[in-house]
Amino acid sequence: MAKTVKNKSSPKDWIEKAKRNAAYEAAKVVENGFAIGLGSGSTAAYAIEKIGARIRREKLKVMGVPTSYQALELAVKHGIPITTLEEHPMLDLTIDGADQIDDELNLIKGMGGALSREKVVASASKKLVIVADETKKVKTLGEKNHPVPIEVLPFATPVLMQKIREKGGKSCVREGINKVGPLITDNGNFIIDAVFGVIHEPVKLECYLKSLAGVVETGIFVRMAHFAYLGKRSGVQELLKQALC
Ligand code: A5P
Repeated sequence: MAKTVKNKSSPKDWIEKAKRNAAYEAAKVVENGFAIGLGSGSTAAYAIEKIGARIRREKLKVMGVPTSYQALELAVKHGIPITTLEEHPMLDLTIDGADQIDDELNLIKGMGGALSREKVVASASKKLVIVADETKKVKTLGEKNHPVPIEVLPFATPVLMQKIREKGGKSCVREGINKVGPLITDNGNFIIDAVFGVIHEPVKLECYLKSLAGVVETGIFVRMAHFAYLGKRSGVQELLKQALC
């Protein structure tokens, strides 16, 4: 007897749809004349695609500063004119993804290795909009032993791994994919992925890591995001940064 195969959708299907919905929602925020930061990763890629579509359909006039070679290639593919921080040291908006988002919209970023440029571009932006599927939302950063990506000068790597150990963290150097040895970032550096467990004081940890010689940038983004679009199984939720008391 022939077996009937049920057409089950895998969990990845709804996540991909949720990412796309969130990114498309954020792309609506882009206004004519904006200089925008173009984030990296698979969710930000949908926003780049949608902005390209708006340029073609609505004759929207925008320029983008890419946060990585990935974002640069996608921007060219989708017809977004490229600009630089030299020409636009202040950007109207950046749309980017995240790996974890807490209640205060603090973030862990950098699983795609682009954290340093992402942070520079975010810091140059009047508004940082985060796009993600709802699995990225956590109560506290570092939950589920999520690592903090840290971009480091290759020369400093062993010293930094020792200092992270002293701070109670466990770290490893991120390996390249389809390349032997460490991953090399767009800036020619290494990435250390450091697990600290639940991070109750992200500002403190960020300050400590940034104080270490050889650290280029960390993936902890404290209170940089203004709002976030979270793609859910059904619909998109908007999260706003709460005012500090
Ligand atoms: C790139 O370095 C990252 O900061 C990404 O924005 C982040 O890892 C989210 O990527 P995905 O949207 O692919 O999950």
